[in-house]
This record gives sequence, C-alpha cells and structure tokens, in this order.
Amino acid sequence: MSVTLGDDSFRSAIGEVAAILEDYWEDLREERLPVTPDLHPGDVRAMLPDCVPVHGEPIRDVLADVRRVVIPGLVHWQHPSFLGYYPTQPSPASVVGELLASGLAVQHMMWSTGPAATELEEAVLDHLAVALGLPERFLSTGDGGGVLQDSASSAVLVAVAAALYRASGGRWREHGTEGRYRLYCTDQANSCVPKASRIAGLGEPTQIPTLAGTCEMDPRALHEQLAADSAAGLVPAIVVTSVGTTGTCAIDPIAAVAAVCREFGAWLHVDAAYAGSAAVCPENRWINEGVEHADSYAVNCHKWLLTGPPCDAMWVADRHSLTAAMDIRPPFLRNQASDSGDVTDFRDWQVPLMHPFRALKLWFVLRTHGVEGLRAHIREQLSHAALLADLVRDSPGFELVSHSLGLVCFRLTGDNARTERLRAELDATHRILVTPTTVDGRYILRAALGSRLASQASVRNAWALVRETAAAIPEGRPASSETSQTTAVGAR
Ligand SMILES: Cc1ncc(COP(=O)(O)O)c(C=O)c1O
Repeated sequence: MSVTLGDDSFRSAIGEVAAILEDYWEDLREERLPVTPDLHPGDVRAMLPDCVPVHGEPIRDVLADVRRVVIPGLVHWQHPSFLGYYPTQPSPASVVGELLASGLAVQHMMWSTGPAATELEEAVLDHLAVALGLPERFLSTGDGGGVLQDSASSAVLVAVAAALYRASGGRWREHGTEGRYRLYCTDQANSCVPKASRIAGLGEPTQIPTLAGTCEMDPRALHEQLAADSAAGLVPAIVVTSVGTTGTCAIDPIAAVAAVCREFGAWLHVDAAYAGSAAVCPENRWINEGVEHADSYAVNCHKWLLTGPPCDAMWVADRHSLTAAMDIRPPFLRNQASDSGDVTDFRDWQVPLMHPFRALKLWFVLRTHGVEGLRAHIREQLSHAALLADLVRDSPGFELVSHSLGLVCFRLTGDNARTERLRAELDATHRILVTPTTVDGRYILRAALGSRLASQASVRNAWALVRETAAAIPEGRPASSETSQTTAVGAR
C-alpha cells in the first residue's frame, strides 16, 4: 500500500513543518502569542473534525489545522514569559534528530535489534557524563553506564528496583518486599519519589526532616532514622536525594548523605532532573559534590539541555544490580548477542520492553551546540534568573524567598491570600505563567527561567507585569510565620 500525502511530496510537507516551527519560534520570541490560551474545556474539541475521514485528506489541510486550531490552543512552554514548572526547550537540532529517529523507527530493546542505536546511546551517555563532570564510575567503560529513560520518574522507579535487588541479595525478585524495605526522602522530593515507593510495594517513603531554615535533607536526622529502622529489623534500601528540588531548587548535601548510605548499605539515588544540566558549566559543579558516592543519578535533558521531551539521562555506578533486577528472557527475545553477555540490552535498564531511539536527538544537540554552546545557554538563563532576583529584591511589597540557579521564588509580603490572589490574577492575563509551592505553610510563587527565546528585556517585561498586577492587590496583614530564616530557604 502506498502512503499518500495528497498532492504534496514528503519533502514539501517537511518543509511546511519547518516553516510552522520557524514562524512559531519567531512569534514566541516577539511575544506575539499569549503564554496560555483563553479557552474553556471543550473549545478545541469543537473545532476538530467529528471523526476519521472516509478518504484521506491532503496533508497540507492537516498542517493548516495545526496553525489554525492546535497552536492557538497550546500553552507555550517555550514562551519567554513561561516561568512555570521547569523549562522544556528543544533546540532546532533536537527537533531534526527527533524527526530522523521517528522516520528510522528503530526499536532497540536489545543490541541485536539496533546495534548502531545501542552503541550510539552508550557513547552519548558517556560523553554527556564527561561534559557534566560526573564521576568516572558512571561510564560504560567500567562497571557503570547510562541509559535514556523517558522521565525522571522512570529513573527513580528503576533505581528502586535495583536497590531492592541489591538490598535483598536478589531475593526480592522471587519474594517481593516482604514488608521489610524502606525508601527515604524529604518532603521536598518530587512527587515521583513517593509514587515510585508505592508502585514498588514499599508504601509511603519515610520522610527525613530538612535542615532548619532550608529545604535540604538533614544527614544527622537521616542517620538517626536509618539506625532506628535497622535496629527494628527493617532494611534501609534506598535514599533518594535531590540536586534541585522542584519547589525551590534546594540542593541536598549529597556527600554527607552518601556517608550515611554507605554505613547502612543503602542505595543512593540522586534526582537532578532540572539542576543537573547546570553542571555542564564548571562553576556550577559544586551542586554535585559527593556524587562520586552515588549509585545512580538522573537528569532530564528535556528540561535544561535543549533536548525535546522525553529524554532523561540516567547513570548507574554498577550496571549489574540494575540489569539483574530488571532482566527478562522470554524465548522470543533470545539471541546470540545477548547470550554472549558482550552487549548492552536496554530492555533490562527500564520498565518498557521497547526502547526508542532517543539518543539521536541528544547526539544532535551535543554535537551541534558543543560543550561551549550548552554552557552559553545555561549561563544566559542564569543571568536572566539573577536579573529577576534583583528585580524582586528591589520591588517594595515583594519578598525574595529564594534564588537557586535558574529558579527564583517570591511572594507578596503579608498573608498567603495576597500571593494566591496575585497568582490567580497573573493567570487571568494569559501573558505569564508562574507556578506555586508551599514551604513551611507559606504560599510562594516559582519563576523558572529557561526559555532560549528570552532576553533581559523579556525578563524586565515579565516582572513589570507582575508588579502592575500586584499593585491592584490591597495590603494585607503580615504572615505570622514570616522570619528571616525562611527567607533564606533554598538559597545558595
Ligand atoms: C526535581 C524533579 N524530579 C523529578 C521530576 C519529574 O520529572 P519527569 O516528568 O521526567 O518524571 C521533576 C519534574 O519537574 C522535578 O522537578
């Protein structure tokens, strides 16, 4: 069966896709689009065809609908004033790599189903580890190695599986968790950490307190908890730390936590989903201090490393714990290369069986930007964050709660209701997006700077909008929990 694009050739269709994206990025750079659409649920559905057409339509009509219906209905994650969550900023090189990967449609669950894709992925992860200054033990040339997961959530989940395998001496595969194993993190860990704990059958994680006045794990409290649990016959299987929490981009003290993990034989996973990319700049490598003792480490290249989603780079120091935990060998997957033990089969490094060719887009990014290009991107975003932090500091009525890497957290002075109202009113403008968090009961707005289309001018414009919107909110009572200590939350 021949696949038709109507009267259009594949080349012209791809040309139109390139035109759509170039126009889109230009519209965002010039802020000709809002950040969020002004829509009600069902508005977009009402503009879509009712069903599959009986006869295929020309692809140019479908592409026209992308311009007409899809793009206006999106939240524009690459917009300079999209400051919510953490960024996603694929560079054109990533898009080209992704397009190629989609056309090549390789599924390299095993080396034998995609030798070049497998070896390229191994090489790309080794190269990226070196570019980020990660320890040698994560390289595939030794006992370690890297894999591209879809998400940081998947990385945590497979780290938990590996930890359970190691902590149980392999018994977990047959007998499950037997109610003995524990996972530890702080209340600032991303929600994917308790989720992984529940999925793995460990129930809720044990929460370790944070150091006073910070959002960072308290290693002494961790030690006390692990000692008490061990004495009670429980097995501390894994501690999940954050290099850059979601709430305030706080950095856990990895070296001190690692010492506790070593004492109790617990696996140490470092979730560096957002902040890990910053380590491409040598001056930011302090964030990874102690990581040479970690068992696994993950960073979302789709957050801050100019790569399209999904693309989470995960490394382990001992790949055997991971593959022994995840290994599957049904007859239909048996092949000589796997049996030889000489190859990497990514099916044993992840939850799904299929392994898409994500490495191609990352390879395109690394090769076309080079280390210096990536550094320039990170440094530019950091300079935008520093500017925003200065603007907040210089604005009467605002409180700079924290500034860590590209994340600036602020609130209005007074009770939470004022900041909650500010957020609602900013949302209603559709011209900016910030997302909230709470620390010690205080409602805070997070602004994550990361758009490759942003400039100093766009940062100033975004802040002017925040100030203008806040000016209409009446003064309130000071929040009772306002202290100078909490003002330093997460700040480094
Ligand atoms: C620190 C941190 N960890 C994990 C995640 C979850 O990432 P993913 O969506 O890749 O699962 C996020 C998401 O923003 C995050 O900020």
